[in-house]
Amino acid sequence: MGKEKQRCLKEQKMFENMSEKEARAKILESVREYCGTFHNRTKDYEPGERIPYASRVYDADEMENLVDSALEFWLTAGRYTDEFERSFSEYLGIKHTALVNSGSSANLLAFMALTSPLLSDVNGKDRRIYPGDEVITVAAGFPTTVAPMVQYGAVPVFVDVTIPEYNIDVSRLEEALSEKTKAVMLAHTLGNPFDLKSVREFCDSHGLWLIEDNCDSLGSRYDLDGWRFTGTVGDIGTSSFYPPHHMTMGEGGAVYTDNPLLSRIIRSMRDWGRDCVCPSGRDNLCGHRFDGQYGELPKGYDHKYVYSHFGYNLKATDMQAAIGCAQLKKFPGFVKKRKENFAYLLDGLKCTSEKMGFDIEDRLILPAASPDSDPSWFGFMMTCRPGVDRRSAVEKIEAAGVQTRALFAGNLTKHPCFDEMRKSGRGYRISGGLDNTDTIMNSSFWVGVYPGMTEQMLSHMSTVIAEAVRISS
Ligand SMILES: Cc1ncc(COP(=O)(O)O)c(C=O)c1O
Repeated sequence: MGKEKQRCLKEQKMFENMSEKEARAKILESVREYCGTFHNRTKDYEPGERIPYASRVYDADEMENLVDSALEFWLTAGRYTDEFERSFSEYLGIKHTALVNSGSSANLLAFMALTSPLLSDVNGKDRRIYPGDEVITVAAGFPTTVAPMVQYGAVPVFVDVTIPEYNIDVSRLEEALSEKTKAVMLAHTLGNPFDLKSVREFCDSHGLWLIEDNCDSLGSRYDLDGWRFTGTVGDIGTSSFYPPHHMTMGEGGAVYTDNPLLSRIIRSMRDWGRDCVCPSGRDNLCGHRFDGQYGELPKGYDHKYVYSHFGYNLKATDMQAAIGCAQLKKFPGFVKKRKENFAYLLDGLKCTSEKMGFDIEDRLILPAASPDSDPSWFGFMMTCRPGVDRRSAVEKIEAAGVQTRALFAGNLTKHPCFDEMRKSGRGYRISGGLDNTDTIMNSSFWVGVYPGMTEQMLSHMSTVIAEAVRISS
């Protein structure tokens, strides 16, 4: 008997006399066992082992969902995507969520949605962002919060941040305003909410859009006449599900809003720019596929192929969504653990330095939650005070096995991607100087507080950081 035939017979036997449902259940049971045997084997942390700044936290639930979706083989957005968008909206208390393939795609989509022709007459006002219009933001952050503005030909206006919150200095907002300002687009830095009350009031009083880049702050809350999740106070919020973030699906992101018009634009631009809102693979749900009149197309042209925007394809796969559905169920626990880890590290650093005979706060500026906020911390940010050499401290911390990170770009305007704009002095504006942003670029670093960290790891981190700072002064 040929090898191929033998293999087929063996495979047949495996599912003999089983329904498809039973066969699937059998595979999924094996997947759970596989995950328990080969992944997530818990062992105590041994001093000297590497402590990453972030890591995925998952178990057999995620793996089972992933394989279930693979066996279904729908592949593109399907039932898991629907479930994820619904559950995510429910968690945040927001009306519309669109799943996308990354946080950067989410930012691109959120920004580009505001350039839609459908916004050129909103209650008699032109709210559309045109090339040359200005958007207020910060330079101390991640580049893809700003990239969509530059790519479209809008002008980012950079405002300085405050330390130790690492968020926009709201006292400088009015000064940054011009007659071209159309929006404010900002991230909540490492989970610490920016002053949403002041920024929202500023936007409302000047008729500006507010996009909250919530990629590093999912689960953070802000007290604005009651507790609200960050990402839901502005007109549009964005999330990233890249592995280091608060929850993961490998790659992935989301764009969310309470505004039905913005939601329609977001979905259109995500899905090739099309006008039709039928999900992939389903036709004529509205019953008007062949009777509309659009642009200068012949009446009744197939609505499935009518384009109201120049769009993209930024959809995620159903397998990503399947992982996300399992992560979301664990999410409140992740947030709780991040908060506990942050508090433990803060306390640990103070106690350890005291035992070593110095006050850590004389050498480092420690992070602080913004007023009226309840952060779901992404990281633990520190700034070396004058006299402490950041490079030396970071090298020692890394050498002791603790992974560190810079606050992403530090000062984005100093990067090579800005060389041409810096030379020409065109395409961006700095309002009022970026002194604290430069301090962050030169003197700050952060370590993780991800939910997989144990008290042993956090204690070790306190000792390593305190010692490195002591000998780098
Ligand atoms: C604030 C912020 N926005 C956007 C992104 C981009 O997310 P992604 O990596 O999913 O594209 C990141 C990435 O870490 C980020 O930190």
